Amino acid sequence: MTDQSSNQMWGGRFAAGPDAIMEAINASIGFDQRMAAQDIAGSRAHAAMLAATGVISDSDAEAIREGLLTVLSEIQNGEFQFSTALEDIHMNVEARLKEVIGEPAGRLHTGRSRNDQVATDFKLWVRDQLDAAESGLLALIQALLAQAEAGADWVMPGFTHLQTAQPVTWGHHMMAYVEMFGRDLSRVRDARARMNESPLGAAALAGTSFPIDRQMTAEALGFDRPAANSLDAVSDRDFALEFLSTASICAVHLSRFAEELVIWSSAQFRFVTLSDRFSTGSSIMPQKKNPDAAELIRAKVGRIYGANTALMMVMKGLPLAYSKDMQEDKEQVFDAADNWMLALAAMEGMVKDMTANRESLAAAAGSGFSTATDLADWLVRVLGLPFRDAHHVTGSLVAMAENKGCDLPDLTLEDMQSVHSDITDDVYSVLTVQNSVNSRQSYGGTAPDQVRAQVKRWKALV
Ligand code: ARG
Repeated sequence: MTDQSSNQMWGGRFAAGPDAIMEAINASIGFDQRMAAQDIAGSRAHAAMLAATGVISDSDAEAIREGLLTVLSEIQNGEFQFSTALEDIHMNVEARLKEVIGEPAGRLHTGRSRNDQVATDFKLWVRDQLDAAESGLLALIQALLAQAEAGADWVMPGFTHLQTAQPVTWGHHMMAYVEMFGRDLSRVRDARARMNESPLGAAALAGTSFPIDRQMTAEALGFDRPAANSLDAVSDRDFALEFLSTASICAVHLSRFAEELVIWSSAQFRFVTLSDRFSTGSSIMPQKKNPDAAELIRAKVGRIYGANTALMMVMKGLPLAYSKDMQEDKEQVFDAADNWMLALAAMEGMVKDMTANRESLAAAAGSGFSTATDLADWLVRVLGLPFRDAHHVTGSLVAMAENKGCDLPDLTLEDMQSVHSDITDDVYSVLTVQNSVNSRQSYGGTAPDQVRAQVKRWKALV
């Protein structure tokens, strides 16, 4: 059969084959061949069910199931000839099956349609990606926990508005990302649980008159149950949208962390040294070591969220049930998934390899009057000042230190007393950075004990 003749799968009522441009816009085989393994798993489950329910003979089912394994190995070995004329992976596989086993192949498509078939294949593919994302997130969380544990009491500046705010610990900063990626992990798990209903057997849109057993195929494919409405089953792409929105939120987290690594690895900050394995040099400036992996991770959110937006726009306004618009779902999801997995792996590698520069962190932690809040709190706690007054007194002391070009602990007691006469020597105990962080023992605070407790809690969870 040539490309000019009518389609061998649905060409019964067609006198001529499609125009070349029609074929080009219609075909999805260029990308949906990535779902070959899922397509064959779905077909094997369907064939077994058709035999179990007496719709086809056991020997036909056996021939189909064996033949599909042959087709799968041809695809995996790169021997398979994909044909654009056969549109998509579903028809490519079925046509080849016919060549391999002959007449029984024609019975495979009983009681199903490409509409439930593609929904099933795509769900299985997305489900695999959710599992991969789960593994990637777990590995990244482990890498962050190792950093947090090693540096639970290393001091560094905490920022608001990227201005020095209060000292925090390295471990605390790492654990902030553990919380974020932990929420991503729970979103991935939620999405997987919600999507795990089988569309197979919904057929074109209305179900089928054949006595099929949808429970059986659902179980065979690892679904929790068959989807309960055939119209919804073939037209639902929520699972892809939820995948993309989950990926997008995670990509935002990855991007924020990547941005911090870009800043922290700069010569101005020197908070971290990224390993050579995740950096590049410059072709002209010999001194340069660029955080390219971090920058690329920072950028990935653009295409991942772009895919989310694109599929939202594809799906909006589609009437029930299947429309060909929905074929536009796959490339977006494939690209987003590839880049999400890559970004997770690259971030894990970077976190594992990076070295926190403890001295630079500590030096920066003490600058910028970072213990000013501790001073104000001391005035409240020891002298009984209202916080607003304490804030004012502290402000004057900061201004004084600024004028003198020194830090708060460098002011003499006389300097201090010139602003408030009741201040005593005891005040110096709260002006050190280490005491500042040690004192922040409130639940979820930055004190090393609190950080260690959170590391312990997470280690039990992941
Ligand atoms: N290639 C199609 C897709 O990805 C498969 C379903 C085609 N169904 C149909 N009725 N034309 O959506």
